[in-house]
Amino acid sequence: MKCRSEYEKKRQSAMDIAKLIDSGEVCMSPPMCGEPRKILEALAVRLRGESLKGLKHHQLLTFSDHDFLKPEMADSIRHVSWFTSPYSRKAVHEGRADYMPSYYKNVPALWREVLDLDVLYALVSPMDDHGYFSFGLSCSETLAVKNKAKKIFPEVNSNMPRIHGPEFHTYLQGRRLCESDYPLAEMAAPREKDLDKIIGGFVAEEIPNGSTIQLGIGGIPNAVGKALMHKKDLGIHSEMFTESFVDLIEAGAVNNRLKNINKEKSVATFAGGSKRLYDFLHDNPSIDFRPVDYVNDPAVIAMHDNMMSINSCVEVDLLGQVCSESIGPLHFSGTGGQVDFVRGANNSKNGRSFITMYSSAKGGSLSKIKPILTHGSVVTTSKNDVDSIVTEYGIANLKGKTAGQRAKALIGLAHPDFRDELRFEAKKMNLII
Ligand code: COA
Repeated sequence: MKCRSEYEKKRQSAMDIAKLIDSGEVCMSPPMCGEPRKILEALAVRLRGESLKGLKHHQLLTFSDHDFLKPEMADSIRHVSWFTSPYSRKAVHEGRADYMPSYYKNVPALWREVLDLDVLYALVSPMDDHGYFSFGLSCSETLAVKNKAKKIFPEVNSNMPRIHGPEFHTYLQGRRLCESDYPLAEMAAPREKDLDKIIGGFVAEEIPNGSTIQLGIGGIPNAVGKALMHKKDLGIHSEMFTESFVDLIEAGAVNNRLKNINKEKSVATFAGGSKRLYDFLHDNPSIDFRPVDYVNDPAVIAMHDNMMSINSCVEVDLLGQVCSESIGPLHFSGTGGQVDFVRGANNSKNGRSFITMYSSAKGGSLSKIKPILTHGSVVTTSKNDVDSIVTEYGIANLKGKTAGQRAKALIGLAHPDFRDELRFEAKKMNLII
């Protein structure tokens, strides 16, 4: 077969591929499991041993403890994080890496229209008989980037699932490729604390049968997934395909039958979790991974009636301004798709969005409901977009509520230890009398 002989001609070692990357080039890897670890390891060997300098490595979410994040690499390669992970956080905090603010939906357009790109290196699934690969678990912005990069270096990994989707089976464009067979990185199992279950239960009560669901990152959205197990006719339209979606599909709670668009399909743009999740997604015709500028487009999200969006946050002020990505001035994660989905759900018929959190943090020593946001905290979801805030003390629907009504409702969700102080501050701010 022609494609097989072409493949063999392009096959090289990871080190040979790393040698094709030049000083000063802007490189990019897809998020999470899409990162080509063998190529990145070979690149690190070159960066340590040769006079290769001034590289940039862009990535939405790093999923391993890469060499390019180490302090001694700072002069030769700079990481730009688009959604900071536990692996890249230290480098960002120490100023050795940058972060890129953006709505997730806009990431492909930024690559298409604003940023330059020399190199795309990506982990892909094994080639099929027709010469096509899949970007597998990390579709996201990869299609836009594939059409922009001057050099494309696929790393074909035997464990990368082949995932269905209209645009992701892509004919080999790269000049060179290499192969790997290491197991894909897995996410730690989500925590399952009693508080998560209580909050999950509150949200589940608000979600009618037949809804379409988006679940965000973190322990509480996962608990909401678990609490939906007894529902019927649910659909999935979510940027991230989470572990609990597998449970919901296997339990028969999800069938995507009532979705207005993409009926019978679970739609997402990336996945990260356990091997069980990856096996479930592999070659599964009920799964449809699409570019993030489609999945996270608020207009597309709003086409679903009863769109239910569930995300988490770091803190909320008494007006309902939500910070989900920094702890005070310290950058923590990113905007991700939170605002895309809040806005989409706002425009969906009977849609709702739930921003969930524990009422307090740090062993109960601080309230996550604040009179005003902590100095340096950034607003992720604005007071004008926010719908419902949920803690272990209940749900406050802030839509159509005045500033004073919001303050009262949010104080009712605060941990009892902080309610008097919040009332005192709200009075000082003339929010309540
Ligand atoms: N003040 C100080 N520290 C706080 C805090 C606050 N108000 N709120 C949380 N923290 C600390 C926690 O104590 C915890 O620290 P620890 O790891 O030392 O225990 C840490 O911050 C993480 O908090 P936690 O609530 O456990 O995080 P999570 O894993 O449930 O994720 C978000 C919550 C908000 C960080 C996560 O959902 C996120 O990054 N969201 C970004 C936007 C988004 O929702 N996008 C859509 C989905 S991708």
